[in-house]
Parts: sequence; structure tokens; C-alpha cells
Amino acid sequence: MRHKIKTAILISGGGSNMEALINASKARAFPAKIVLVICNQPKAGGIERAKKLGIPVLVVDHKAFGSREEFEREMHVNLLKHHVELICNAGFMRILTPWFVRRWLGKQINIHPSLLPKYKGLHTHKRAIEAGDKEHGCTIHYVNEGVDDGKILAQARIPLLPTDTPQTLAERVLIEEHKLYPKTLKRVAMALRLA
Ligand code: GRF
Repeated sequence: MRHKIKTAILISGGGSNMEALINASKARAFPAKIVLVICNQPKAGGIERAKKLGIPVLVVDHKAFGSREEFEREMHVNLLKHHVELICNAGFMRILTPWFVRRWLGKQINIHPSLLPKYKGLHTHKRAIEAGDKEHGCTIHYVNEGVDDGKILAQARIPLLPTDTPQTLAERVLIEEHKLYPKTLKRVAMALRLA
């Protein structure tokens, strides 16, 4: 069998995107293998979820470190320990410093619940509704030194309905995220395999 790209997932919350990635990666021909999940929130639901799916989970609580960089160094050491080649951020709610970003440039991707470059940051669904947008969606992009700013890899669009609330919209976007992220990871891992 061809080499599978050793992939880590960074999470802070419920981990539904993480679960979609792990499930997809179990297919025999999938080009990435999830070798580690790192969570910065000790109480996040995603921790149990990852354990149930049989993936090693490491909690690196950012509050236990004196600076952003020390927290990142702890993540970095563990990523190296697991021979990680690619990182998928999936609902990971920490801003990363240039120190970490540079070390993983071209090898770290993120999912964001808006059609970037629109609505970087938080409350994307509410902002799209308030702006009167006709469509909304999600984006997967490379991570660079800006916030939700790197080169776009893929987007999924859905119509924004007049009856949508931030919650109904978030639920419908999430369904698209769960399809788009595995598809995009597959593509990125295949490209890395050829590199
Ligand atoms: C997703 O909408 C993701 O795009 C955003 O936060 C949410 C995380 O959901 N950054 P989950 O933890 O994957 O369930």
C-alpha cells in the first residue's frame, strides 16, 4: 500500500469535523492517516469522541503555559514525536503565532464557516444573515500568518433562506463542512504524497 500522510487534527470543541475526517480516513485507499488529535480545551466534547474512534488524543491546555509560543512549542514537539506531516485545524479556536505557522507552512489547513474572504473571525452565520446575503457556506484554506487568510483550497455554497437563523444556517453549513473537509484532505494528502 502507498504511504499515507500522517495527519494531526487540532480541535477546541465538539469535533464533528474531526469525526468526519477520521471516518473518511478509515477507507483503505484514503491517502491520509489520522495519527493524533490535539485539543486545547480540557472539557471539549471532541476528546471523548476521538477516544471512541480509537485515535490518540492529547490535551494541551493553553492556560497552563506562560505564552502563546510555549503552548505552541508543546504542540510542536508532540507533532514531531508522532511524525506528523500535515495538520488539519477543525474548530481550533486559538490564533497561532508566526513561529508555529512558519514551521507548518503549506502543511496546515483550516476550515472556516463562511465564504472567505467574507466574514473572517467569529459569528459568521449571524453576519451573513445581517448583511442580507443570498448565499453562505464554508471554506478550506492553507494557514498563513493572518487569521482565516491563507490560500483557498475549496468552498461549498448553500442558499441562505429568508427563514434562516444563525443556528439553522450553522447546522446546514456544518453538513457541507463534513463533506468538504474529507474531500479536500484527500486532495491535499495526495498532492503531498507526490511532492
Ligand atoms: C465548525 O463550523 C468550524 O468550521 C468552525 O467551528 C465549528 C466546529 O465544529 N471553525 P466541530 O467542532 O467540528 O463540530
